[in-house]
Amino acid sequence: MTENVEPVKTLKGKLVPPPDKSISHRSALFAAISNEKSVIKNYSQAADPQSTLACLKQLGVEIHQQGTEVTIYGVDRDGLLKPEAPLDCGNSGTTMRLLAGIAAGAGVDCSMIGDASLSARTMKRIIAPLTEMGCNISGRDGAFAPLKIGPHRGIRGMRYPLPIASAQLKSAVLLTGLFGEEPTEIVEIVLSRDHTERLLELKSEPFGTGKIIRSSRGDLLPAQNYTVPGDFSAAAFWLVAGSIHDGAEIELEGTGLNPSRIAALEVLNQMGANIAVENPRSEGKEPVADLKIKPADLKAIDLDPSLVPNCIDELPVLMVAMCFADGTSTITGAEELRHKETDRLSAMAEILNRAGASIEEKDDGMLIHGNPAFTPKPATFPTWHDHRMAMAAAVLATRSDGTSQIEDAECTAISYPEFWTHLNQISR
Ligand code: S3P
Repeated sequence: MTENVEPVKTLKGKLVPPPDKSISHRSALFAAISNEKSVIKNYSQAADPQSTLACLKQLGVEIHQQGTEVTIYGVDRDGLLKPEAPLDCGNSGTTMRLLAGIAAGAGVDCSMIGDASLSARTMKRIIAPLTEMGCNISGRDGAFAPLKIGPHRGIRGMRYPLPIASAQLKSAVLLTGLFGEEPTEIVEIVLSRDHTERLLELKSEPFGTGKIIRSSRGDLLPAQNYTVPGDFSAAAFWLVAGSIHDGAEIELEGTGLNPSRIAALEVLNQMGANIAVENPRSEGKEPVADLKIKPADLKAIDLDPSLVPNCIDELPVLMVAMCFADGTSTITGAEELRHKETDRLSAMAEILNRAGASIEEKDDGMLIHGNPAFTPKPATFPTWHDHRMAMAAAVLATRSDGTSQIEDAECTAISYPEFWTHLNQISR
């Protein structure tokens, strides 16, 4: 479906961001391999975390869903059953990479498939270390789904310096490590999101500027009983939208503020944004707060490349913010964007060019010549079925002077099914 986005005078209102996608996935996966019953509240209704639940059911895990409350009867780490059909991960990289870590560690005989986008994303980054640990895992052309997983002769712990700042890779290796007698050690110098370590209560210690995280069969796997916080990556669209509209006032209730996820807040603050963090509290093992966003005169920045892993999903909408900032902004060290649901560097370059922004795409980032008075040209925006492209284009289009079209707009349901309703709700 194509969604028409009208220019808005301003944006005003209170929203509850959707439940965090990364934490929803993990809560279900970790509950499944504990030996207790877990009740997870505010579980995401979005397509990706629902793919995780469907795969776990195929592996014989008993799961009851009542609205956003999910009850999972853990089968213990050796209790997963051989599924009758391939595990369908849909569009979800987190489902495929994390569940592969578990299934390959457990030696479950299964295959994993995904949609066209997921089937084009490299899984070599997990196949290589998991194979080194003794797993029986292979992919099409050595790198792509369908993945084939089978029984193995035992998991060897290993010390693994993370070659890419990727929480999915880190998590896959740590999860396989849970099946080895000796510890697996991840050496992480550039820190990525740490939900896995937090929720599994894995041991870690500082190492240089980073840390070492360990997992082994000796780790007890806790039940996952908590309320999933609001998704900061979804909230980021409103952080930018509220910053670029005169008179805007957006409140976001219960947004997850895990320090390893919120570099976008730091970036926007460096750009001069007016975002208040109120009522800080904890939800399970994760920090949460309410956010109040008001407009600001944004200024350009050179984004510190060391922040990239902690705002990787927010970079597309940060590019939109940079179009309205005074001066030239630079993004470097963001080559990983080319390995997401689509090549997000080239996709954003296409979207911003269609709107008439002044940008230069680079191999590992973008140069954005911003202008506070920029009025995006109304346009038809492709999305490559990538949820974050659709939402970033929509935020951009709200500052236009005519109606824009967002193609395949239903793809927002991958992470944020209520996005269009929320946009209409606060548009003035
Ligand atoms: C995620 C990690 C990130 C992120 C993705 C979710 C996770 O991917 O882009 O949306 O839940 O671990 P990478 O680990 O590949 O960077």
